[in-house]
Amino acid sequence: MTIEEEAAALVASAFPSLDSAIVEYITSVVVGMDAVEARDTNEVAAAISPLLEDAAAASLQVVSALCAKLSKLVGGVPAAGASGSALKVLPQSSSARQPMSAAATGANSSPSADDDDDEEDDGYEQEEADIFAEFNVLKTPIRMGDLLAQESERLAAIQRVLSERHEVKKTAVNQKLLERSEGRIKRKQDKRAQKEMRQLAAISAAAAAQNPETASTNYAQNKAAAASLSLDVQIENFDVFFAGKPLLQQADLMLAYGRRYGLIGRNGVGKSTLLRALARREFGMSASLTIVHVEQEVVGDDTPSLESVLEAHTERHELLQKEKALVAYMDAQKQLGREVETKKAMELAQVYSKLEEIEADKAPALVAEILNGLSFTQEMQSAPTKSLSGGWRMRLALARALFMRPELLLLDEPTNMLDVSAVLWLENYLQDWPHTIFTISHDRDFLNSVCTDIIHMHHARLEAYKGDYDTFEKARDERILNQAKEYEAQLMYRQHLQAFIDRWRVNANRAAQAQSKIKILEKLPELKPIEKEPEVQFRFPDPEPIAGSLVHFDDVVFQYSNDKPIFTKLNFGLRNDSRVAVVGANGNGKTTLLKLITGDLLPTKGESHRHRALRIGYFSQYHVDQLDVSMSAVEFLHTRFPGQPLQEYRRQLGTYGMTGDTPLQPIRTLSGGQKSRVAFTLLGMQKPHFLILDEPTNHLDIETVEALANAINAFSGGVVLVSHDERLIRSTCTEIWVCERKSLTRFEGSFGDYKAAMALALRKKTG
Ligand SMILES: *[C@@H]1O[C@H](CO)[C@@H](O)[C@H](O)[C@H]1NC(C)=O
Repeated sequence: MTIEEEAAALVASAFPSLDSAIVEYITSVVVGMDAVEARDTNEVAAAISPLLEDAAAASLQVVSALCAKLSKLVGGVPAAGASGSALKVLPQSSSARQPMSAAATGANSSPSADDDDDEEDDGYEQEEADIFAEFNVLKTPIRMGDLLAQESERLAAIQRVLSERHEVKKTAVNQKLLERSEGRIKRKQDKRAQKEMRQLAAISAAAAAQNPETASTNYAQNKAAAASLSLDVQIENFDVFFAGKPLLQQADLMLAYGRRYGLIGRNGVGKSTLLRALARREFGMSASLTIVHVEQEVVGDDTPSLESVLEAHTERHELLQKEKALVAYMDAQKQLGREVETKKAMELAQVYSKLEEIEADKAPALVAEILNGLSFTQEMQSAPTKSLSGGWRMRLALARALFMRPELLLLDEPTNMLDVSAVLWLENYLQDWPHTIFTISHDRDFLNSVCTDIIHMHHARLEAYKGDYDTFEKARDERILNQAKEYEAQLMYRQHLQAFIDRWRVNANRAAQAQSKIKILEKLPELKPIEKEPEVQFRFPDPEPIAGSLVHFDDVVFQYSNDKPIFTKLNFGLRNDSRVAVVGANGNGKTTLLKLITGDLLPTKGESHRHRALRIGYFSQYHVDQLDVSMSAVEFLHTRFPGQPLQEYRRQLGTYGMTGDTPLQPIRTLSGGQKSRVAFTLLGMQKPHFLILDEPTNHLDIETVEALANAINAFSGGVVLVSHDERLIRSTCTEIWVCERKSLTRFEGSFGDYKAAMALALRKKTG
C-alpha cells in the first residue's frame, strides 16, 4: 500500500460516513506535509481538524487517535504519547465551537489522555487553555508559514499576563508551557529564516542575471564556497526575465553530475534563453565547472576541418605549438654547430611527457571518428572550414564540443542540423558520455535514447522527471489526472461548505456553525485550476480532386552552371496519394531535388512533367525566413491573399494553433515555432494538392510535431517529406527514397529497416 492509500484507509476507518472526496482531500493535505511537520501531532491536528469538523463533533478521541496515527505514518515516528498532545490543540482550536469544547472536556478526563506529563500538568491544562482563549491564540487552527509575527507578539503578551497574575505562580509546569510555546515559535522562526535566506539568494541571483559583471560576484561570495567542489549544478529559487517578461519564477534547477537531461517545453517558453544563461554561468554557477554550449557555427578560415576540431583542445594545441618551436630551435642550433641549451632540452622532454599523459597521439583518430559519425566525408575533413556551408560549420561546432568533453555539455536542438545517420550516431555516442548533458530537443526518439531525466519548462516553472520522454509523458499525464481529482475534491468540499452556509446562515440556532464554516471556507487554499497546456491541432485543407499521376521524371540530369552534376540520373513518379520520405546524408542534394519537383529548378537534361493543374505547397526554413517580419501574421496573409475578411485570416491561423494575440503581433516578435505556423498557414491557404515539406519540425515543440503528423495523415493529397525526425517519418510515410551518389533509389523496406541498415553501416565504418 502506498502512504496515500494507508492514510486514506485510516481516515476512512475513523470516519466511515465521510464523503470520499473529503477523505481524499484530507489525505492529500496530510501526505503533503513534510515529515518534520507531520511528526508534530499538533500540526496534523491543526491541519485537518477543521476539515473534520462535523464528524469531530461526535468524538474528539477518534480525531486525536487518528491524528496520532497519521502523524506516525507521515512523520515516521512512534505515536506513543502523541495522542495526548493532539488533545491540547483541538479544544483550543475549536474553543469558539460548542460541541468541540464539550468533547474536549470529556477527553481530558479520560484515562487515555496524556500519561507521560507530570501530574501537576493536568491542573494547568485548563488554565493554559483559558489564557490562550483569552488572547484568541488558537481559535483558528494554525497553518504553517503564516501568523508567525502575531504569534510571537501573543506569546509576549501571555508572558506578561502570566507574570502579572499572582495566583499563577512561576512553577516548573508553567515554565514548561512557556518553553514548549517558545520551542514551537523558534522552529517556525527557523523555517522562516531559511525561507528568507533562499529568497535573498534568489534576489542576488536575479541581480546577477541582469548585471553579470557586478552582481554575479556578490552571489558567488555567498554561495560559491559550497558549490565550488561539486560538479552538480544546483540553482534554487531563481528567476529569468527576457525583454521584461518572466520566463522563470522561483524556479529550481538541479543537474546531478553524470546524468543526461532533456529540456522540453512549448515554443516560446524560453528554453534557449535558459541555456544561454547557464552558458554564461549566471546564478552563481561554479567557475571551475567546464561548460560548452553549442550555439554558434565555427568561423570559416583556412584551417582544415579536422585540424580546427583538434585545436579546440587548447592544452594539446599549446603543447604542440611549444614542441614545434623547441624542435625548430634545436634544428637551428645543430645547423650552426652549436650546443643545445640543457634547459631547452628539458623543456622539450617535459612537453613530450605531457603530450603522452593526455594521449595526444590518439586525438586525431578520435576526431576522425566524431567527424565520420557526423557524416563528414574524408574530403570535407581536410577541406578548409571556409569552404563549408553554415550548416556544416555548425556540425563542426558540435564536433568540437564532443571532442572537448566538457563537464557540462549544453545542446540546443542538436538533431536539427543532422541527417538520420548522424542522429543515430550521436544517440549512441552520447549514451556513453561521462559527464552531464543538458539538451533541448523536440525529437522524441532522441530524448528517449539519450536522456536519463526530463525537465519540463512550463508556466514559468521547471518540473523534473526521472526517466526518458515516454516515462515523462506517462508521469505528467498522471500528475494532471491527480491534479484534476484534487481540484474536483476541493471544489466539492467548497460546495458542501457553501451549501451549509447558505442554508443555515439566517437560522439563529445554527448561525455560529455557519459562521465558523465561512471562516473555514476563507482559509481554504486557493482553488487553482489545472495548468494544462492547450492541445495543438493542425489541419491541411482537403485538396480538390486531381488525376492520379502528378509528377514524372525521366533520366533527368541536373547541375548548376559550370559545376559538377548534382544528379546524373533521376527517374521517378509521384501520385496524388504518394507518401514519400527522402533520406540521405546532408549535402547530397535533397533540397535541390525538392526544387526540381516544384519546378523552381529546371533539368539540365532529360524530361520532367508536372500535371498542369497541380498546386504544390512547399514548406522550408527558407520560406519561413521570407516572411515579412515588420507585419503581423494577419497583415501578411492579407497581402498574399487579399480580399478576405480579417476574421478569415485569424480563423486560418487558428487551424495551425496561432490563437489569442499572436496573429496581431509583428512577426518579428514571434518565436521560431510561431513563425513556422505562419508559414504553414500560408501553405494551407494555397489549397495544395501536394505538400513538399523540407525539415518542417526544426522549430516546433513535441506536441506540435505530433499535431503535424496527424495533419499529414488526415490530408488526402500527396506528400514528400525531408526530415531527420524518425518518429514523424515512421508515422506518416510509406516509401523511403534514398538520395545518394547523385541519384535517387527506392529503399525496399520500412523506415525501421532503413535505420537498421544505417546502424549496420555505421558499425562497419567506425569498426
Ligand atoms: C487520385 O487519383 C485517383 C485516380 O487515379 C482518384 O480516384 C482519386 O480521387 C484522386 N484523389 C485525389 C485526392 O485527388
